[in-house]
Amino acid sequence: MKIYLAEHRGFCYGVKRAVNMAVSAVASNCPVHTLGPIIHNPQMVSHLQTQGIGAVDNLEDIPAGKVIIRSHGVGPEIYRQAEAKQLDVVDATCPHVKKAQQAAYELRQSGYQVVIVGEHQHPEVRSIVAWSNEEAQVVETIAAAKSLPFYPRLGVVAQTTFAANDFEAILSILKTKCEDLKIERTICTATDLRQQAALDLAKKVDIMIVVGGKNSANTTRLASVCQEAGCKTRHIESAGELKPEWFVNVQNAGITAGASTPEWVIEEVYAKMEEMNIGNVAKLEAGSVIKG
Ligand code: F3S
Repeated sequence: MKIYLAEHRGFCYGVKRAVNMAVSAVASNCPVHTLGPIIHNPQMVSHLQTQGIGAVDNLEDIPAGKVIIRSHGVGPEIYRQAEAKQLDVVDATCPHVKKAQQAAYELRQSGYQVVIVGEHQHPEVRSIVAWSNEEAQVVETIAAAKSLPFYPRLGVVAQTTFAANDFEAILSILKTKCEDLKIERTICTATDLRQQAALDLAKKVDIMIVVGGKNSANTTRLASVCQEAGCKTRHIESAGELKPEWFVNVQNAGITAGASTPEWVIEEVYAKMEEMNIGNVAKLEAGSVIKG
């Protein structure tokens, strides 16, 4: 069995930045908490816990010290509350998410009805809604877009991790729902690159192993992309979940990982797959893909 790694996989720029900011914050010897898990990856959350960085669900649980705003961002009210509590805010909101928040804020200020194309309950979407003064409509499906009333002016913002083709399909409906449509293309290329690389690899291998938190939206989407390409796909969080029977009669196996999956977790999966494949290993360099 040959094992291939997707060309683009794992930590994106925003997640890497947030984790680095959290690790630097702990060096300061005062209590450090993240507001919500810093990323949707249980291994990373427990790793940070061992370094003294706790995760809390709301600001009331932080008596003093530093609060880290994770890459998904938060609404303006949280900044106000943190300031009132005299907490030291370490803002690790991904700059791409900031851009989407800012776009929602400005569109609303300019008199547009804001529509966020994204998942209702996703923390990033909740943060963008908050920046629209809680007035944005969230649309996740074509059916939801069709059910919107007609507005004179619609301003569209995308969840940064939304699938690009689904976004375009929803836009085609939104165009029929207003006179004036302003589109802010806030989908981040990290997501596209990972999805495209996963798709390319899924078309060439017998099985795809998708590594990342089960609660990670972008990892789950990578798994769907592989599955929809007709490739046998397994979504796992760690190497311990791999089963030898998955690889019976498999000539080529692919690995990809969501934007919140640390490299060391991917390496453990790779190593375990190699172990299961002793005697028939064709190790390739990281980043390599099947040619042709
Ligand atoms: Fe930011 Fe894109 Fe990652 S929005 S957190 S760089 S997936």
